[in-house]
Amino acid sequence: MSVGETGVAVVMSVRMAPPLPLIFLLVIHGVSSADWGVSYSHSHICALKNSSVIMSCTYTYPTEYQIKKVFWTKNPVKVGEEYPDLSEDPEYSQRLQYLEDKQQNCTIRLSHVTQKDSHMYYFRFTTNVTKGRWFGKPGVSLTVTDLQVESPERVTEGDSVRLTCKSSCALTDRATFIWYRNSQPLTERRDRNNQLLLQSVRREDAGRYSCALQEHTYISPAVQLSVTYAPKNVSVFINGSGEIVEGDTVTLICSSDSNPPTDISWFKEDQSSSVGSGQSFSALQSGRFYCEAHNQHGSQRSDAVTVTVKGRLVISHISMVCGACGAAVFIITLLILWLKNRNCAHNAQMNHDDQACDVEMTDPVYENVTDAQQGSNTCKPEPNSSVYENIPMKKMK
Ligand SMILES: *[C@@H]1O[C@H](CO)[C@@H](O)[C@H](O)[C@H]1NC(C)=O
Ligand SMILES: *[C@@H]1O[C@H](CO)[C@@H](O)[C@H](O)[C@H]1NC(C)=O
Ligand SMILES: *[C@@H]1O[C@H](CO)[C@@H](O)[C@H](O)[C@H]1NC(C)=O
Ligand SMILES: *[C@@H]1O[C@H](CO)[C@@H](O)[C@H](O)[C@H]1NC(C)=O
Ligand SMILES: *[C@@H]1O[C@H](CO)[C@@H](O)[C@H](O)[C@H]1NC(C)=O
Repeated sequence: MSVGETGVAVVMSVRMAPPLPLIFLLVIHGVSSADWGVSYSHSHICALKNSSVIMSCTYTYPTEYQIKKVFWTKNPVKVGEEYPDLSEDPEYSQRLQYLEDKQQNCTIRLSHVTQKDSHMYYFRFTTNVTKGRWFGKPGVSLTVTDLQVESPERVTEGDSVRLTCKSSCALTDRATFIWYRNSQPLTERRDRNNQLLLQSVRREDAGRYSCALQEHTYISPAVQLSVTYAPKNVSVFINGSGEIVEGDTVTLICSSDSNPPTDISWFKEDQSSSVGSGQSFSALQSGRFYCEAHNQHGSQRSDAVTVTVKGRLVISHISMVCGACGAAVFIITLLILWLKNRNCAHNAQMNHDDQACDVEMTDPVYENVTDAQQGSNTCKPEPNSSVYENIPMKKMK
């Protein structure tokens, strides 16, 4: 206190630790007019970031003095003759407002507080008498806090979890806390005070949580809560067809819903040990395959899928190409028959055995050709084709 000044100092020491004779003296002279002082309704204020803070304040002075200047300061060190006036500080001037007439009530509002505003603040007044002035110690301590969600990173499905909305000081304004998940306000399951209790956590409870105070603009940074659970919905997809031709592979893909991601093993139904691992598996053989997904919370297996590997059949190949080159196949076939026949005739000459020259109608190659012809209209050779005409000739022989 900078009051080394005559009667004022006496009154002040009375306020601190009143010696009995002095009280007696003052009562006689009437305390009401001689009282100097500043009082604040809150000496510690804990406010939320971006909120408005009200610093309630009243002051008294003897009526024989005239008030010259009243102001708030945050610096108990004089700059020149006086302490710096907060309302002349560019960082405060726009945000500071006196709510009353300054005659006895020195209450101010400071808006949009930031953490930089955390400080001590004092009310100061001066009168027309040089030594009649007052510095309102001990002042008001302002702490500006943000909010932080305190939560475990992950929780297992079915467990319960408690989230806390933390501030660095106990908020003076005891407003209601509100909670958000993925920016959506949670209307239900709000717990008492600044806590959110999630009982028997479900997978849908996973998300980014933030908290705020009702009727305040500030919202805490969001914190991710992850819900872990055993694999579910494990199934195998076949990429492509389940029927493949020998030498090709079919890719099986295992899908599962789990958190954390699962390890996947592949099994063939008739084998006890796994045949592979990883999300996808290339089946080379026929069989029934399934996958099994597991993480630290459990495991689940899929239904089996059937993979059929077919041998390469000449017939199917011919069928496939017959539209394009039926005639060529026919010529080749006849060429084979002709060669056989020639060999046969040659042998017959050697063996003098005419029977050996009969063409076997059950020859598999020939059969395939006829099959192909019957199976597809486009494969029918033209009836007057000279090549075709050769066949009855051979048959007649
Ligand atoms: C201060 O103001 C009061 C009230 O107006 C007056 O009575 C007093 O004489 C003034 N004192 C001085 C030193 O000017
Ligand atoms: C001072 O003014 C404030 C704001 O208007 C008010 O809330 C407070 O009650 C007043 N104090 C006194 C002692 O009248
Ligand atoms: C601060 O509060 C004002 C209204 O009082 C609001 O318009 C603004 O968006 C808030 N700023 C932040 C960072 O929350
Ligand atoms: C399994 O997956 C299907 C399709 O994606 C979905 O409709 C179903 O709800 C899932 N079942 C479970 C238990 O998650
Ligand atoms: C399925 O096969 C196609 C063609 O080989 C490939 O492009 C695609 O990525 C595969 N899909 C999956 C899910 O593996």
